[in-house]
Amino acid sequence: MPVTPVLTRRWNTPESWTIDTYRRLDGYVAARTALAGDPDDLIKLIKDSGLRGRGGAGFPTGMKWGFIPQGDGKPHYLVINADEGEPGTCKDAPLMKADPHSLVEGIIIASYAVRANRAFVYLRGELIHAARRMRAAVAEAYEAGFLGRNILGSGFDLDLVVHSGAGAYICGEETALLDSLEGRRGQPRLRPPFPATHGLYASPTVVNNVETIASVPFIVNHGVDWFRSMGRERSPGPKIYSLSGHVTRPGQYEAPMGTTLRELLELAGGVRGGRKLKAWTPGGSSTPMLTADHLDAPLDFEGMQEAGSLLGTAALMIMDETTDMLKVVRRLTQFYAHESCGKCTPCREGTSWMVQILSRIERGQGDAEDVDTLVDACDNIFGRAFCALADGATSPIVSGIKYFRDEFIPVSAVTTKPESSKTTPDGAAAGDDAAAAPGAYAGAH
Ligand SMILES: Cc1cc2nc3c(=O)[nH]c(=O)nc-3n(C[C@H](O)[C@H](O)[C@H](O)COP(=O)(O)O)c2cc1C
Ligand code: SF4
Repeated sequence: MPVTPVLTRRWNTPESWTIDTYRRLDGYVAARTALAGDPDDLIKLIKDSGLRGRGGAGFPTGMKWGFIPQGDGKPHYLVINADEGEPGTCKDAPLMKADPHSLVEGIIIASYAVRANRAFVYLRGELIHAARRMRAAVAEAYEAGFLGRNILGSGFDLDLVVHSGAGAYICGEETALLDSLEGRRGQPRLRPPFPATHGLYASPTVVNNVETIASVPFIVNHGVDWFRSMGRERSPGPKIYSLSGHVTRPGQYEAPMGTTLRELLELAGGVRGGRKLKAWTPGGSSTPMLTADHLDAPLDFEGMQEAGSLLGTAALMIMDETTDMLKVVRRLTQFYAHESCGKCTPCREGTSWMVQILSRIERGQGDAEDVDTLVDACDNIFGRAFCALADGATSPIVSGIKYFRDEFIPVSAVTTKPESSKTTPDGAAAGDDAAAAPGAYAGAH
């Protein structure tokens, strides 16, 4: 497998985060090229490159930029989504720490393309070190004349603000992020209208992920054919894959789109201790889990859909044969229940009820109908909530039950239980005799 670092190529250089290092390694060449040209040509370039958003949904970036109305007399904004809250995802923070200027340069080019004179980087509150590096890089870029008034004599002005959120997963959802950036409680907005026309301060706004925008200077420097020489037809370019969990060498692995988990595991030293692979997420916990049967599925947007999952953020959480799937699913569902913003009922109520059912099974107090209840609840949540957080919450449960159903059926299910025990989801109802038999669950490894 050809592995040529692109986005990560500067990461191991000493002081890679400084503007001096960045400029020594082709830094700010692309911005100069871009600002000397026509903004519409940049939008066309990014459209032709086939770059798709790296924040999870894979929306075509050039098309998103093209939605921004021109000549509307309103201010335009570029907002960088650096919230990175998806469990297992850890690519944007290292990128901002190791190579913050690639993001700053991408922001200059993207802002010029969509005619935005103000841009924001919205970071998750916990990313303190990354925020520090970003702020230092922005200060250096102002000092060197890459930000501020009349950048490089082009007549283009751009101000860039680095803003830290307060650490809420929902603030990664782009409209909740915009509310949070405006100073309100971060909750998703009703769409339409979309951010392209009514985004930040009700003005046309592009929201893009860190990795998406950091890819832009490379495309400007090396062109469409070069970018398309990596990856696959509909998912071209390089990608940072985050490997975590039961893997020998966890970390960030950059490889072309469409690389398989088998190939990535070879780079990462395999499953820890030579154990067998049991399950994995292709793109964080919101993407349905897969198994060892999917080791050769291409890790790109189409390949993962064909395998019954999603590429998401390409956060590969590796689980070996010792993993207790019920515990994994219960813990992940707790995450979604905790992070639900509470705006809509299916998500607010559904996630916490599902935690109670899973916990009850885990305590050995479940009954034979619990698995069906969980599947039914997921069926009633998926596509019926206000935003995609709730859809994501159903992924671990549905895929966990699909592949490891036996582990969700409590031993106590084979014994008869009185009807009166089914009054509440947590099994705490009076008369629940199973409550007196903790530890009956024995499905886990
Ligand atoms: C609950 C939730 C959390 C999200 N978190 C992030 C995040 O941390 N970072 C991110 O870039 N996109 C996140 N997204 C996706 C964004 O809404 C949006 O699609 C993305 O920032 C667009 O950028 P892209 O086109 O460059 O991928 C999240 C979506 C949802 C529903
Ligand atoms: S689905 Fe969940 S996170 Fe999204 S708006 Fe509804 S309650 Fe909030």
